[in-house]
Amino acid sequence: MAKKLVAANWKENPSTKAHALRLFKAVAEIRNPRVNVLICVPSVFLEEIGAAYRTLRRDGQAGGLAIGAEDAFWEERGPFTGGVGPKILRSLGVRYVIIGHSERRKWFGETDAMVNLKMKRVLADGLTAILCVGEPRAVRRKGRRAAEEFVRSQLAKDLQHIRTGKVIVAYEPIWAIGAGRPASPDDAAAMACVIKKTLAGRFGNVKVLYGGSVDGVNAGDYIASKDIDGALVGGASLRAGEFKKIIKSI
Ligand code: PGA
Repeated sequence: MAKKLVAANWKENPSTKAHALRLFKAVAEIRNPRVNVLICVPSVFLEEIGAAYRTLRRDGQAGGLAIGAEDAFWEERGPFTGGVGPKILRSLGVRYVIIGHSERRKWFGETDAMVNLKMKRVLADGLTAILCVGEPRAVRRKGRRAAEEFVRSQLAKDLQHIRTGKVIVAYEPIWAIGAGRPASPDDAAAMACVIKKTLAGRFGNVKVLYGGSVDGVNAGDYIASKDIDGALVGGASLRAGEFKKIIKSI
């Protein structure tokens, strides 16, 4: 069976470099041969964590482990204050990047058109993009059909004119993120199936992760589905003990 992927999304955490390094080291020790682990961290920590990661690799201790970024700008370089593009990320050893997280859409005003530009750039640069999609609560209230329609429309816009590239999709219903109230495993699996079918013609067998209030108790319920290839974990990835439970539960 293909390995599952558990990806951590640290968001704007922790608040110091020393803490970030401690957390990375604790998480890097967690092993499960059935699981690949990806740690996505704030870009300012990537140099330090990249160095720690390279040390692990040199010592043969990094099997199944990778580091990623939480966002990338769509321009490689130039007068874009605060921008961090895929080339800069690559130079720090990054091969994965989260794109279009709902918090970026909400707090940083990212539109589908901007997400599309980012997807084009990171895929052209050979990175693996974890594209986040998911419906707001008002849409889910209208039922499964409406939620699926919303997500299909997001995929169409975010992946417009993109034909190839390494794409993973994270289904993250907005109402489930950080809420302690996840989607039901059944709804998550149904959506994962819709996403795979929608993209099969273009990208082959796309991996789909579920994200939104995943913890050590419920992770196994999602990952047991044949259509769910792993999890994107926010809050619970900041506690090494809880993250370990997630990885061990698979
Ligand atoms: P959460 O966040 O696990 O804290 O719900 C998931 C995410 O936003 O990626």
